[in-house]
Amino acid sequence: MIAPAADSRAVEALMAFWAEAGVDACFEDAPVDRLRPISPAAAAAKSGGAATASPLRVAATGGIADAMAEARRAAAAALDLEQLQAAIAAFQGCPLSTMGARQAVFGRGDPAGGLLVVGEGPGAEEDLKGQPFVGKAGQLLDRMLAAAGLTDRAFITNTVYWRPPGNRTPTAEEQAVCAPFLERTFELMRPKAVLTLGAAAARQVLKTDEGITRARGVWGEWRLAEGDVSAPVMPTLHPAFLLRQPQAKREVWADLLDVAARFDAAQ
Ligand code: URA
Repeated sequence: MIAPAADSRAVEALMAFWAEAGVDACFEDAPVDRLRPISPAAAAAKSGGAATASPLRVAATGGIADAMAEARRAAAAALDLEQLQAAIAAFQGCPLSTMGARQAVFGRGDPAGGLLVVGEGPGAEEDLKGQPFVGKAGQLLDRMLAAAGLTDRAFITNTVYWRPPGNRTPTAEEQAVCAPFLERTFELMRPKAVLTLGAAAARQVLKTDEGITRARGVWGEWRLAEGDVSAPVMPTLHPAFLLRQPQAKREVWADLLDVAARFDAAQ
């Protein structure tokens, strides 16, 4: 049935309203807990056939633990960042990859530069272009890194690789599924220092729930449980926060100068 013109105008206006409010993806009428483990029998009943054990669909059938194990296996098999990027693109175990994201977004910059910058997760622009921090917040980040002399040193990535719907903060489970890829990035790159942007990145890298306004500016350490990789970590505020609260740029600037001084001292 074709809706009368007045109705379609009303629908368009309503959709524009929701898009403006950040709701840009629609799934079902009722919320679905996609992180709840589904037993293989239930999955088989749902699909009307025998349960398949596709390693790439683990999140749908085996829950977060299986997805993390598959991510760990895929990450460990990657011998360089290029292979890691391909492994992430092929991975379907993160619930976010089925929530409307166009593509996986991995990293940009020079991995040999020595500074690993970790943001939260891709936004709309990043989802479109396939690169992290290319929207307004990214442009501000680039300007600040350049002013601190860190542009050529930075490789920029995120805690999750698919855009969370409506640009919401990724959940701890979504970050946990992607963590093996971030840890492998850290392991392959062996950075001299790490800069985390915002609370979600600090939580993931430093395993802290301390508020970012208290945690920022204080060096921490990231040490992988297995392997001998470790690096000092500077948590700072997220550039998207700075767009809303420009007066906080002062603090981030101080943190960046601290990072730059550490590099200069190591030369
Ligand atoms: N915000 C992030 O945390 N990461 C991006 O890539 C873009 C915006």
